[in-house]
Amino acid sequence: MTTLPRQAREQPPVVAQSVERIEQAKEFLRLLMAAIKDLRLYPKGHPRVDEATDLVETAIRDILAPAPDIRFDVWEDAVFVNKELVEEDSVYLRQFSGLCLERKIGSVSFRRGIDRAELVEVVQILGLEPEEIIALGGAPDALKEAGVRHVRIGPPRVWQAPASGSVERAAEQVYYWAVQTFVEMTFEVERYGQLDILRARFVVESLQEMLLRGAREITRLAAMGGHDEESARHPVNVCLLTLLAVFGVELDARQRSNLGLAALVHDIGKVNIPADLRYKVDPLAPGEEAIRQRHVVEGAYLLRSLSGWDSIPMAAAFEHHARFDLSGYPKLSFKERPHPYSRLVAIADFYDTTTASRDRVRRVLRPEQAMVVIQGLSGTWFDPPMAALFTHALGPYPMGSVVELDSGDVAVVYQANLAEPTRPWVKVVRDRQGQALEPTSLDLARSPTHRIVRGVDPGRYGIDVAMHL
Ligand SMILES: [Fe+2]
Ligand SMILES: [Fe+2]
Repeated sequence: MTTLPRQAREQPPVVAQSVERIEQAKEFLRLLMAAIKDLRLYPKGHPRVDEATDLVETAIRDILAPAPDIRFDVWEDAVFVNKELVEEDSVYLRQFSGLCLERKIGSVSFRRGIDRAELVEVVQILGLEPEEIIALGGAPDALKEAGVRHVRIGPPRVWQAPASGSVERAAEQVYYWAVQTFVEMTFEVERYGQLDILRARFVVESLQEMLLRGAREITRLAAMGGHDEESARHPVNVCLLTLLAVFGVELDARQRSNLGLAALVHDIGKVNIPADLRYKVDPLAPGEEAIRQRHVVEGAYLLRSLSGWDSIPMAAAFEHHARFDLSGYPKLSFKERPHPYSRLVAIADFYDTTTASRDRVRRVLRPEQAMVVIQGLSGTWFDPPMAALFTHALGPYPMGSVVELDSGDVAVVYQANLAEPTRPWVKVVRDRQGQALEPTSLDLARSPTHRIVRGVDPGRYGIDVAMHL
């Protein structure tokens, strides 16, 4: 196992909670929302307001008697108590998540020691209109100003792109933050046996945000190579490639998020495979191969707590090696095909695995070769519509391909062209004799006299692809 960064060791565990504690937390939220409503209807000091505050106070004291704090997180319409999803759809939970989202609140933590005066302030501040909170400098500042010391409000945990600075820089920050967060999440799973789904969703959401802001810039990082399937870059890349494939497809936010999550955690079960087998470079013995293949079962087991529609990531973890014609593993005798999301994740997984390499010069398959292979396996290993979706999004010469032009010059593809997939943007880096040139950008869509003849091996020309992306 690689050495983990310091922050990873400091991550708090995801503690399994009793049903009773979740019920207490839900009741507290119900009373809190009732108190906020009463304070909007009646003036401060009204008996009805006092009564509602009494109930909130009793509820939070009961919760904080056995534990020093409690934390509520909000993601879209879902509420989490100490990182555990509250599996219930009720009016007051929706009101609480809606209130938080409108006020740019991602989490609210209550600490032991909170007194009544602080609770009154919290009820009042949370009940303000979003514009009023903004005028006070945001909810955290408003609480601080009111002298509240035992309640902490956190921002939505989607990565916040800096207002200034280049898109390239922002993409780099998001990408490496996502990789680092995945390393930390993996550490938590290894140590505590539980995956922090909420955190994983934040990673997906942040990558999606960055794709919207600068698709080229963020996918460039996935195309750099220099990693392998055991690196934390692999799940982040598979997530990015999957989201990229459905970029123009009509999906609602929840579907997109679940698909991204399925891609991000598809190999999470590997944490339970012995490290010597995970990192073994030599060919595996049949018995060892069977152990490594168990990661699909281990992954599904780790994701078992997700239920209903959200159980799709569990299906993808289980099925991403099953193949469209079910010739892979595990054997799915009980169904005709893997879930559609599993079929798309399988293609993104194949692409990243085969094109990535620790060695930046030589890869197992070059990007354009991987595209040909994916099309060739369409109908057997891969679902034809999904393969079409993926190959269309990346183009026949995906970013990072090295190509020979009809002039004999050699160029690196650095941006796809969805309108004319065979005419991407390239950087010409070698002349027809193979001599290095000062890299020159060329938009092939606007250069009708140039066209790509074929893909070539960058190793033959000593081209470090990552340098030109
Ligand atoms: Fe896998
Ligand atoms: Fe994988």
